[in-house]
Amino acid sequence: MSVTRRGLLTMFGAGGAGAWGGPVDGLALAARGLEDESAALWQGGGRRGGAPAAAGDQPPAIKLSSNENPTGPGKAVLDAIVGQFGEAGRYPFNADPGEGKLVETIAALHRVKTNNVVLGAGSQEILKNAVWAFTNPSRHLVTASPTFENATNVARRMGHPVVEFNVDSQFRIDLEAMLTAVRGAGLVFVNNPNNPTATVHGGKTIADFVERVRRISPETVILIDEAYHEYVTDPAYETAMPIALSTPNVFVARTFSKAYGMAGMRIGYAVGSADTIKPLERLRMPFSISVFGVVAAIAALGDVKHLDAERARNTEVRAFTQKALEDLGCRCTASHTNFLFANVGRAASQFRSACAAQGILVGRDFPPFEGSHARISLGTMEEMQKATAVFRDVLRPANAAGGGIE
Ligand SMILES: Cc1ncc(COP(=O)(O)O)c(C=O)c1O
Repeated sequence: MSVTRRGLLTMFGAGGAGAWGGPVDGLALAARGLEDESAALWQGGGRRGGAPAAAGDQPPAIKLSSNENPTGPGKAVLDAIVGQFGEAGRYPFNADPGEGKLVETIAALHRVKTNNVVLGAGSQEILKNAVWAFTNPSRHLVTASPTFENATNVARRMGHPVVEFNVDSQFRIDLEAMLTAVRGAGLVFVNNPNNPTATVHGGKTIADFVERVRRISPETVILIDEAYHEYVTDPAYETAMPIALSTPNVFVARTFSKAYGMAGMRIGYAVGSADTIKPLERLRMPFSISVFGVVAAIAALGDVKHLDAERARNTEVRAFTQKALEDLGCRCTASHTNFLFANVGRAASQFRSACAAQGILVGRDFPPFEGSHARISLGTMEEMQKATAVFRDVLRPANAAGGGIE
């Protein structure tokens, strides 16, 4: 397999364990997907944003490192969870409503049949099971760099080959480059919009990519991860769900962890043709969605007003934060998510430490941009007002000397 000039190709055999984080300030970061490195740098010891400060203690840190929704779920969801406390002693299959009701609700939302939907304990269960189901030592994973790393890490731990391609000059997933490696691949992972670069591809571009992959390698499965779907404001964007439903070997992953504000509840799902997603159902952990997760997700899907308000809130905070960063000379990529990928003109680790010292926790390193870019998740407007004041303090001296950052 050839390496394109702009592509970064890495083939990992068994034991590519270096992908998992090393110690930071004495704390082993076992679950790198949590992207919580900066918590270890906060002098308050990584106390959560919501934790109350003890008398004479530092105020709680503002956590902008895991792309969570800072407002959490709406009242309808919280009421549904509380109303289900009486069922806590039941297995999910004995509780009412059960998982079947959630699958029916999701199917109705997308106007599909229930066998077009598979649930997961977060969309990470879907991603992990996709790697298990569709890759093997001779059928590689094709993915981007940087992108959401769950699939990459699972494949490496299993000893399945991974072929990665750097994002393009506009920080978008380089679909053209990926096409050079799809022949014989087990799985192609496309994160749209992409975490951590925040960029999105339009519907036509994705449709064209899928068609070309199908022509080159019809047996290859394509996973389109739309975790940030609800936050996209690019009019050219379209969900890939219609493609997934009409095309063999294509499916979409969604999550309740972002716009629905339910990262702690662990619910995601896949939509695709019944034959394509059947292996994901077979690999599921039994009863992986709790009785609370089921009612919470059903309530969330019923509360359209809350979702609309969250989308509007995020768009406003995104514009405010982007302007504040660009006023400091930090160019951001075109974000269609609940985070920004900003050129802070120095090592991300340096920026992260300086911000953490003032209680602002931003994202970890994202090679190959660890020397210049920081990923900043969007908090509430009040949190971002505080955060941008810290960014000003941290960035201004260098910018004044250097005349701005490109
Ligand atoms: C692109 C992407 N996919 C999936 C996930 C995982 O989400 P979940 O909480 O549903 O497992 C994340 C989380 O940050 C993400 O950024």
